[in-house]
Amino acid sequence: MRITVNGEAREVEADVRTTLLDLLREHLGLTGAKKGCDHGQCGACTVLVDGRRINACLSLAVMHEGDEVVTIEGLGTPDRLSPLQAAFLHHDGFQCGYCTPGQICSATAMLDEVAKGWASHVSDDLDHVALDDMEIRERMSGNICRCSAYPTIVAAIREVADAERLAEAAE
Ligand code: FES
Ligand code: FES
Repeated sequence: MRITVNGEAREVEADVRTTLLDLLREHLGLTGAKKGCDHGQCGACTVLVDGRRINACLSLAVMHEGDEVVTIEGLGTPDRLSPLQAAFLHHDGFQCGYCTPGQICSATAMLDEVAKGWASHVSDDLDHVALDDMEIRERMSGNICRCSAYPTIVAAIREVADAERLAEAAE
């Protein structure tokens, strides 16, 4: 199959039963996306497919022929961190770090969803979504952190969301 991963066109041969997560980790050597539950319950395997967040453990690789996949390795590099990667470091948004790649990929797509005006189950106003902490918690509820670093994860996401809002206001 052909698939673009982190901007690079790849041709991969894999069993049709291979999940996208196993394709990334076992065939392409991208171990950033983690296997926690392998059942769609923890979010550790979250990656972006054509800009939307998905659980890579729940999706067969062959379903992604021709798709563009971005993993944590594609969001930034150690000397050029993405805003969310930098904010997680700044706020200590992790302890063991196992959930962190999934948290950051998920938050990246989540901020995009908010920018598009998508409401969540806790949105009071469906036309004007205000990203308060309750909204962040609800929208990130598919990403479990066994170390319970939730307060600092929310703080990191809030910092980036606030910076984006200020930048928009200044335009
Ligand atoms: S490993 Fe995919 S959701 Fe847990
Ligand atoms: S930092 Fe350990 S699971 Fe989240």
